[in-house]
Amino acid sequence: MTKLLITGGAGFIGSNFVHYTVKNKPEYEITVIDKLTYAGNKDSLATILDKITFVEGDICDRELMDTLIKDTDIVVHFAAESHNDNSLREPWPFVETNIIGTYTILEAVRAHGKRLHHISTDEVFGDLELDDPNRFTESTPYNPSSPYSSTKAGSDMLVRAWIRSFGINATISNCSNNYGPYQHIEKFIPRQITNILSDIKPKLYGTGEQVRDWIHVDDHNAAVHLILEKGTLGETYIIGADNDHVNNKMVIELICELMGKGKDWYEHVNDRPGHDLRYAMDSSKLRTELGWEPRYTDNQTGMRDGLLQTIEWYTNNQSWWKADKDSVEASYAKQGQ
Ligand code: NAD
Ligand code: DAU
Repeated sequence: MTKLLITGGAGFIGSNFVHYTVKNKPEYEITVIDKLTYAGNKDSLATILDKITFVEGDICDRELMDTLIKDTDIVVHFAAESHNDNSLREPWPFVETNIIGTYTILEAVRAHGKRLHHISTDEVFGDLELDDPNRFTESTPYNPSSPYSSTKAGSDMLVRAWIRSFGINATISNCSNNYGPYQHIEKFIPRQITNILSDIKPKLYGTGEQVRDWIHVDDHNAAVHLILEKGTLGETYIIGADNDHVNNKMVIELICELMGKGKDWYEHVNDRPGHDLRYAMDSSKLRTELGWEPRYTDNQTGMRDGLLQTIEWYTNNQSWWKADKDSVEASYAKQGQ
């Protein structure tokens, strides 16, 4: 058995990764380390808690990370403060977890000679103009916009430096916007689905022309497993599902339609300060070198099937999100969002 330490495994992508791994990869023995911040939810792992080891703790705790990493083979590092809007209100937790936390993991990985896969984002590249046909590649220069994306860029730079300076065995992936089950309802897609389920109109920032290159979380996690199995140490891989023709307005209209509302049953609210315009990912390297293909695709928006599955999940799991709904909406209302 290969021992896998998954940081942030009670968060959105991390918990989906744990479910995916338990279901499809019996060769791994799994430990999750998670601080259970407002974004972490142990209930996301409830049905598989007997199949994993769960440790509640902070990735900034060097002693704890030493103990856990010494006793593992591979670290998959998802833990982060992840929400742009929060980083505009209070940047410090982002600096602490994303930079100091990643540094702490790197030092433990270096001390014990273990393999690391670092999970990152397309936001490190900044944004493209709305009419720019280019896509981000592994060699696009970093140009982050928000406190969140700049701390993720900082964490990527640390990983690159530890690879080059200390020769650690690490890979990095930069993925576009994920959607799917277990995503915190502060985020765009689950916020709108749970709004409709709560009889609140969905909220579109500004004009809604912004483009996010949406990918289903299972497609992201399948790519991470491929990188663990076949990726070249020291390399970075871009992960994206070619949805860069879909803007926020189209997504919100599709959600309204799929949930039986009129296409325009939503309202425009204040825009996000410094709002990135367009992300677009060129995942050719992952596709040609490792043979990855997204499973959730369709001819119209590339998202219909994945959105239907996600809507069904939030509809059937209201106890997972209901308790947070009022406070999330109250916090947005203060910003006119
Ligand atoms: P999330 O906010 O849903 O989950 C983050 C998890 O990390 C939570 O369970 C939280 O409790 C935990 N955590 C936070 N600080 C911690 C600390 N100091 N110690 C231990 N655990 C801590 O985030 P997510 O959307 O699942 O994102 C996971 C990773 O993927 C992040 O690194 C993010 O930058 C990256 N990413 C996210 C997306 C996306 O669309 N959500 C896209 C690309 C990359
Ligand atoms: O691109 C990858 C990134 O995607 C990840 O690195 C981040 O961790 C993740 O949170 C996500 O960042 P975004 O800021 O793009 O995601 P968010 O869900 O907050 O917003 C998606 C888009 O929808 C963005 O253009 C803002 C807009 N939006 C968001 C909310 C919450 C709305 O129009 N209305 C909303 O209510």
